[in-house]
Amino acid sequence: MKIAIVYYSGTGNTEAMADIIKDKLSGKADVSVIDPSSFGPSDLEEFDAFAFGCPAMGNEVLEEDIFEPMFASIEGNLSGKKIILFGSYGWGDGEWMRSWEERCKNAGAMLAADPVIAQEAPDDGAKADLEAAADALAG
Ligand SMILES: Cc1cc2nc3c(=O)[nH]c(=O)nc-3n(C[C@H](O)[C@H](O)[C@H](O)COP(=O)(O)O)c2cc1C
Repeated sequence: MKIAIVYYSGTGNTEAMADIIKDKLSGKADVSVIDPSSFGPSDLEEFDAFAFGCPAMGNEVLEEDIFEPMFASIEGNLSGKKIILFGSYGWGDGEWMRSWEERCKNAGAMLAADPVIAQEAPDDGAKADLEAAADALAG
């Protein structure tokens, strides 16, 4: 099974989450970690499943310069795609992730697990949730 992990991280917290997913998938799937600036609609045909990661930025939105344009470009092609969502936040209540999940559902994506959010760096609880989500994505 080919899985793409596509994430943005400014200060490393979402990257730490991506690393947990990658480690969990090691040996179970053919994993590619892809920078969002290098990902587009044609890449959706190359993989069986996708883990998308982005922190809360702006005012409860996806990172606007790189990740949001990438995501907007693939949104129309997400129908039937198996995905999970993850990301770190600071002071909010997770609104950015609720909005993002809604967008994915409206696009017809199949969420293999509930989105995983972590306040700043992932703690043990977030690690367990990320590992369960990774298993669900590969399952
Ligand atoms: C420009 C900027 C905007 C942010 N906006 C939000 C926000 O709207 N809500 C929130 O909960 N955290 C916000 N944060 C906090 C980040 O989401 C948080 O620090 C997160 O851990 C960063 O993840 P990263 O290390 O993967 O970049 C913001 C941080 C920055 C730098």
